[in-house]
Amino acid sequence: ELSEKTITTVKSTVPVLAEHGEAITTHFYKRMFADHPELKNIFNMTNQKAGRQPRALANAVYAAAQHIDDLSAILPTVNQIAEKHRSLQVKPEHYPIVGKYLLIAIKEVLGDAATDDIMQAWEEAYGAIAHAFIQVEEKKYEQAVAQDGGWSGYRNFKIAKKVKESAVITSFYLEPEDGKKITSYHPGQYITVQINMPHSEYTHLRQYSLSDAPGKGYYRISVKREEGGPERPDGVVSSYLHDQLEEGAVLPITAPAGDFYLNEENHEPLVLISGGVGLTPMMSMLNRMVHQNHDRDVYFVHAAHNQEVHAFKEEVADFVKESPSVQAKVVYSTPGAEDSAYDREGRIDLPWLKSVVPYDAEFYFCGPEGFMREVHSSLKEWGVPDEQIHYEFFGPELSLQ
Ligand code: HEM
Repeated sequence: ELSEKTITTVKSTVPVLAEHGEAITTHFYKRMFADHPELKNIFNMTNQKAGRQPRALANAVYAAAQHIDDLSAILPTVNQIAEKHRSLQVKPEHYPIVGKYLLIAIKEVLGDAATDDIMQAWEEAYGAIAHAFIQVEEKKYEQAVAQDGGWSGYRNFKIAKKVKESAVITSFYLEPEDGKKITSYHPGQYITVQINMPHSEYTHLRQYSLSDAPGKGYYRISVKREEGGPERPDGVVSSYLHDQLEEGAVLPITAPAGDFYLNEENHEPLVLISGGVGLTPMMSMLNRMVHQNHDRDVYFVHAAHNQEVHAFKEEVADFVKESPSVQAKVVYSTPGAEDSAYDREGRIDLPWLKSVVPYDAEFYFCGPEGFMREVHSSLKEWGVPDEQIHYEFFGPELSLQ
């Protein structure tokens, strides 16, 4: 139980701290990784370089601090992060480490204003927030093992099959090395893959959405080769998967996780909108619908640059042929001269969307940030209620609000 004084003190310092997010970015992680290099095995060091994840964690602590007198108000957010933490095997013993360096950073940001009282209040607040996460995560660890075919920690899977889906996306079919049952999952969920590259001091963890329907005896992930840019280094991990890991290679993975998934109780029409490699969770949902022989109308809208990078063309075309309730629309932003089978050139905007999908539907979408913003604002402008809109960002969570 936190005292009234602690609560007031913490809440009053949140705005100052939130404003100085950059300082947290630069100091907190740098120190933490210097003293605890073993944590480099867990954190995505590419996201670290881009500065997105550092802000995400600190911002989440501040958001929680604002609700420190009633943490239950932020349970949906805690739940989503906890899914990710469980998937990454974040454990209770990690929390004091993160807390220590976060407090040092807070002290630094507040400077002279950081009295003993304030620091004491923050220490208590962090303790309460960490406790809330640890409790939610503990249940998730138990559930992951208790499931039929479930497991705790990492389990070795071998690459049974590698299939090129487009110029940039390749699917990996993963089967458990022990030959035993694997747990089912909800279409839309992801797994964490542990990649041990030769000549790399640390392991690399990456999360990939499952792209096939559950219940098939394997997990399929479909990975895009990430090319670098001015703000981002090359995707060493995705290149390694594409170029070095062949059929037969072994990958340790954790059990499926994630709170972005298909609501199968609902029977309204289903609209699945994806941009680029954001199609992977949508492919799982579409696959599921088709294999369930569902009577739900499904609209699969996919945007890609052009035909060369358009993955799963044949698989989706087969579904449309097989199932009268499935429709697919293809949007190419920059079609090649030879490209033929597409429904629209340019971007997905509201007038076009209105002409191809129903309003009275449940919408799921996933893709790059700019695409997500456009789709989200179109749906809002159309007046689609929030309860019918579901989306997932790749990488650290951002906000569309
Ligand atoms: C991801 C919050 C503690 C490791 C995240 C994200 C948030 C967050 C908001 C991004 C979620 C997303 O991408 O959707 C917090 C809060 C914590 C906490 C509020 C404390 C109360 C920890 C601890 C560890 C940890 C103790 C382990 C040492 C990670 C990792 C990621 C992550 C590895 C994924 C991002 C990456 O790979 O760099 N956390 N976290 N977190 N968290 Fe935490």
